[in-house]
Amino acid sequence: MVHGKLTERLSMEKKVAATLRRLLPRLEERFKPHVEPDEWQGFEERLRRNFPQLFEGLHFLYGDAYDFFFHVESILASATHMWIDRPSELKALDALREYDPQWYQSNRMVGAMCYVDLFSDDIQGLIEQIPYLTELGITYLHLMPLFESPEGDNDGGYAVSSYRAVNPDVGTMEDLERLATELRHRGISLVLDFVFNHTSDEHEWAKQALAGDEDYQQYYLMFPDRTMPNAYEASIRAVFPDEIPGCFSYRTSIKKWVWTSFYNFQWDLNYENPEVFNGMMESMLFLANQGVEVLRLDAIAFTRKELGTGCQNLPGAHVIVQAFNALKNIAAPAMAFKSEAIVHPDEVRKYISKEECELSYNPQLMSLLWEALATHDTRILRRSMERSFGIDPQASWVNYVRCHDDIGWGFADEDVAAVGFDPLQHRRFLSEFYTGKFPGSFASGEPFQEDPVTGEARISGTCASLAGLEKAMAEDNDEEIEWAIRRILLLHGVVMTIGGIPLIYLGDELGMRNNYAYKESPDKMGDSRWLHRMRFDWEASERRGDFESIEGRIYGGFSRLVQLRRQNLAFSRAETEFVESGNPHVFAYFRTHESLSVLVMANFSNQEQSIEAWRLRQLGLRKTMVDLVSGKMVVAARELVLEPYDFCIWARPT
Ligand code: GLC
Ligand code: GLC
Repeated sequence: MVHGKLTERLSMEKKVAATLRRLLPRLEERFKPHVEPDEWQGFEERLRRNFPQLFEGLHFLYGDAYDFFFHVESILASATHMWIDRPSELKALDALREYDPQWYQSNRMVGAMCYVDLFSDDIQGLIEQIPYLTELGITYLHLMPLFESPEGDNDGGYAVSSYRAVNPDVGTMEDLERLATELRHRGISLVLDFVFNHTSDEHEWAKQALAGDEDYQQYYLMFPDRTMPNAYEASIRAVFPDEIPGCFSYRTSIKKWVWTSFYNFQWDLNYENPEVFNGMMESMLFLANQGVEVLRLDAIAFTRKELGTGCQNLPGAHVIVQAFNALKNIAAPAMAFKSEAIVHPDEVRKYISKEECELSYNPQLMSLLWEALATHDTRILRRSMERSFGIDPQASWVNYVRCHDDIGWGFADEDVAAVGFDPLQHRRFLSEFYTGKFPGSFASGEPFQEDPVTGEARISGTCASLAGLEKAMAEDNDEEIEWAIRRILLLHGVVMTIGGIPLIYLGDELGMRNNYAYKESPDKMGDSRWLHRMRFDWEASERRGDFESIEGRIYGGFSRLVQLRRQNLAFSRAETEFVESGNPHVFAYFRTHESLSVLVMANFSNQEQSIEAWRLRQLGLRKTMVDLVSGKMVVAARELVLEPYDFCIWARPT
């Protein structure tokens, strides 16, 4: 067995070396004359370094094809071509990042996300609002898809018709390039989506397929009758069950069933076809060449399908990412990947590494922050984080409170059961709580894709509305308003300090609330995620300097958190160590960077909570402690008392 593996390895290494030996001279002949000799040398060096990973990936995917070598060559030739086209300013960034490969782990990283149209009408407007972003300390900006997509419903742009054209409502390709440059010059990295699991049904490939071209029909997954769809559906869970039961849609003009994991106008691509891989890779490098510094790999778990499986997180899905990763390391090394895998925590982790995605959403933390807020109990949160927060030290989490999608209760059942709750009941309780149905709930939210059989649902709502601000304001209840503000800052306090890039949904820093207008829009009704994709309220933002106003109180708290993060190396490339606070309401962790160490404490209850002083002493703290958030000094002789929803950072002398 071991012997067999070893021979396999050796033979793979031989194949890698032989292929490279054959390929290099051919690439050199075609491309070397177009660049400076030194530049070519750098490229060749990266190619040699990343070729084994690329080759193994392509071999896994297409090794059986009779013309395999031809595919490897044409994929590399396209990538080389894209690299030659790469603007020199970006090549300079490539060189810079060679010396700082973990740039995204800096404590200066603070992320934000928005829809261009809802934030600033268009790209030009966004360029004008860059000062707002720099004022807030933003260094990473994720824009929702802004490429050409079908009129009307297009899943918020996640049905891409072409990566070479910007949606005319927001601008042009030139505007986008200018935006990327302007952002880069102000220290903000542009983040865009690479929606590579599917295209819209108006993409050039889809149009050809619909016109009956059989070659292009091979770019997608199409079936003449229900036999295969039925067989696949036996083991697949639909993503949008309200929308279509199952994952296939029928197209009468070609009389075929098309694989559509999401909406019926989003056609899943067929990655068994090397042309698809090659074409998508070109789009990926095209985005890189526009100045994109982080590419969010959308729906990363879905790209491979196999009969009898759930068709998510299959080994082949990882291999596709590894192959793309090697190619970007060769042709656009400044760019990092971010994984969007909203799946079981153990599966989320598998996409995170230097070989796949350097960054990943942390959906488990996101859902457990809300869980702890509803229950006032941090035991599941702590247990889960202890078990699965640690990742490849070269990679990083992107921590968020909510995004443009729904909040799913994506924690691990075993962690819930370990503290004595029933996972299904617990999820049901959380859904009732955040849709405001549970008696005494402070939240205003709506269900998304509710399952009438199990009572399970995902949740839509803005941070402020889910945290109670909407209800409190409607009731004009000052005390509740204060609680809601504290909850918003508590959750953001954790994402800013726990380790990784914090990601703010623009508007949450001002407490913007749900927008119910989607119910009247034919394109949006039925998709409650539009509830929390509210239009940015610039008028409200004017009040951010007034610390008596609600906006000012929230914004002031955000600014303080951002400042703390940016001024303390304990929030950069540092280790996170979760500790037992001795009080189930209080979540606590150390952040340690070389000789710097701080203890973060978050009280998830609406009551005062105390921590016994001996525990603090045991953890190395002194009797007299300073909270870096409020600046208050406390003397904890017998116990430390935390206010309701307190968020504190204690400096530990070393
Ligand atoms: C991603 C997006 C989501 C979209 C889906 C299909 O998960 O975040 O908004 O609906 O992919 O592209
Ligand atoms: C599911 C999918 C994720 C998608 C989301 C949209 O969680 O796993 O990819 O973005 O649904 O609601």
